[in-house]
Amino acid sequence: MSKSNPSSGPAPAAATPSAVHGVAPGAAPAAATAKAVPLEGVALGIDVGGTGTKAAMIDLATAELVTGRYREKTPQPSEPHAVIEVIASVVGKVLDEYGTAGDVPVGCGLPGPIKYGRMKMAANLDKGWVDFDATGVLEEKLGRPVHVINDADAAGMAELAYGEAKDRAGTNILLTIGTGIGSAVISEGRLVPNTELGHLELHDQAAETLVGGAARKRLGLSWKKWAKGFNEYLAMLEFFFWPDRLILGGGVSKESEKYWQYLKTDCELVKARYLNTSGIIGAAYAAGLAAHEQAAQEAAAAAATKPASRRSTNSAARSTASRSRSRKPAASKKRG
Ligand code: BGC
Repeated sequence: MSKSNPSSGPAPAAATPSAVHGVAPGAAPAAATAKAVPLEGVALGIDVGGTGTKAAMIDLATAELVTGRYREKTPQPSEPHAVIEVIASVVGKVLDEYGTAGDVPVGCGLPGPIKYGRMKMAANLDKGWVDFDATGVLEEKLGRPVHVINDADAAGMAELAYGEAKDRAGTNILLTIGTGIGSAVISEGRLVPNTELGHLELHDQAAETLVGGAARKRLGLSWKKWAKGFNEYLAMLEFFFWPDRLILGGGVSKESEKYWQYLKTDCELVKARYLNTSGIIGAAYAAGLAAHEQAAQEAAAAAATKPASRRSTNSAARSTASRSRSRKPAASKKRG
């Protein structure tokens, strides 16, 4: 299995492996590898795509949008500072509608592999994003912590927490079919981040440039012809990963009634629960989960520093206290 040769499709800009700047010691390289747990409260999700930038406030218990979904065009050229202005604008609209948001977790999906809070490759966004300090600049602009995650991984987290990958054993692969093809591999309930399966090579080209949504239009293919090529891609994924379930999401899945009958797989094939909103829901969930994990770690560290004699007394009271000390994923605030 090889990743596509950049010379055979539009060349994604990629960083050199050593180019990891400003990494805090002990920082996790990629986001959201934790197991999904039920969360409560709200979080704000942002989804940056090649054409549109969207945001909404999400109820983490139900995955429902508790504000409108605000969308603006992603500026062209999509260089980082211009896009961050647009992100700030859609976030501003969400917060205007929601009212005071306190320390609500904020998650942002970006269309490229993410390591240490930075994009490492940019196929559908300006090359200036490669190694740009996306997390730092976004946090400064929005004035709050921001959890940055690959957009397809965000969609995968939405399916894992609330949708078609929830409580499913084995290997589940979500593909988001839009301009490009994004992937989220979920193994035994855990996301394996940054899989980039849309860049696998099919007939000497990056699969997404041959069987992605934009490719179908560019090549003027009927849905039947497109599905024939897409089936080859699915067969390749099955050959290498032997998934238990393939989940199809992304914009092209909105038109699934036009091609679903042509698709053939050995494993189970299902439509994603979330299409348009998966990136926003998953980015919000991933941010909520990261806040939850951090709070649990802080509570454990605080408990470990207490003198042993105090630790051994009244354990029930202690665990209640540590729960109330921990920063909840989000404090649900009233709207308006
Ligand atoms: C990018 C992926 C992204 C996908 C969907 C691909 O070109 O490399 O990181 O998930 O597009 O946006």
